[in-house]
Amino acid sequence: MSERKRVFSGIQPTGEAHLGNYLGVFRRWAQMVDDYECFYCIVDLHATTREYERPDLVRRVFDLTVSLIASGIDPERCTLFVQSHVPQHTELTWLFNVVTPVGDLQRMTQYKEKSAAVDSVNAGLLNYPVLQAADILLYLADFVPVGEDQRQHLELSRDVARKWNARFGELFPEPETLTGSGSRVIGLDGVAKMSKSMDNTLPIVAEPDEMWKLVRTAVTDPARVRKNDPGNPHVCNVFALHEFFTDDGRREDIEIRCQTAEIGCVDCKRLLNDNIVEQLAPVREKAAELTANPGTVLEILDAGADRARAEAERTMSVVCERMGVGREALHSSLRELAGASP
Ligand code: TYM
Repeated sequence: MSERKRVFSGIQPTGEAHLGNYLGVFRRWAQMVDDYECFYCIVDLHATTREYERPDLVRRVFDLTVSLIASGIDPERCTLFVQSHVPQHTELTWLFNVVTPVGDLQRMTQYKEKSAAVDSVNAGLLNYPVLQAADILLYLADFVPVGEDQRQHLELSRDVARKWNARFGELFPEPETLTGSGSRVIGLDGVAKMSKSMDNTLPIVAEPDEMWKLVRTAVTDPARVRKNDPGNPHVCNVFALHEFFTDDGRREDIEIRCQTAEIGCVDCKRLLNDNIVEQLAPVREKAAELTANPGTVLEILDAGADRARAEAERTMSVVCERMGVGREALHSSLRELAGASP
């Protein structure tokens, strides 16, 4: 096994990858391969907990893979794969279910929000964080880079590791949550986190005209009604996004010119849009190239799943042996009994 610490992270294929994903995690995922052994997973099984159409799901798995690679995640230097291609994720989920109190799952904020929004709550929605714990712990991961919204689920993963270790013997490290700059990017409405389900996102592979159509709708400082009202950039989400796309000097200039009403909100959005479009141009180009070569993308995912499966099998053989399930556990116990008998 490699000496480097392990990283695991995942993303749901529930829509187009957006700037929240890109700024919150993709950039960090791309860098972390320098220092860690990284497993990055497209969690399609998690996405089945909400209503979906089959063709959309498979297309989104493909598109998300493209977006991840185009964002700089090098599949040669990490293990990039699809969750359902490694069946041990669901196997471990079942075994973790038996050490997870239902009350803990019912207390999850995301469960409360998602279950309140549907008429009939499926069991998958409740057990969602157990599958997430299985994702991470299957690879004995030390670190999990995520946005702020995942903190509570990560806390539950640590509880699962602790409970399982206490009952069946030390095996799983308690994974540490890594958040950093961009860990809660706000959406176009200026209020909620940027999220596919809130329909307030800027997709990273949007064409320039599509990007402008979206950026121009972004909510700005609500107190600034007319162009010659002085603005307050510190309560404006458009200005907050400049932090990621505009260098310090130009940002200070925008800040002053907004406060003195020298530029209006549309000017500020135009500058932001131009910088986003320019900086994401290589991502768009790489995405177009990969989309035109689906065979390459499938090969990458197959190789990733093979590597992930080999690791997953290693962990599952210890888990099954300790829990007394599976063929090997039965065979080895009977061999021991036979050896002990006179
Ligand atoms: P998901 O698919 O909602 O989001 C993927 C990652 O992007 C981060 N993110 C954001 N970061 C900053 N600002 C935002 N507006 C924003 N929106 C999303 C998320 O925090 C996340 O890191 N349950 C997870 C997927 C998952 C997972 C895992 C993650 C399944 N198994 C194991 C880590 C480890 C989810 O729904 O992420």
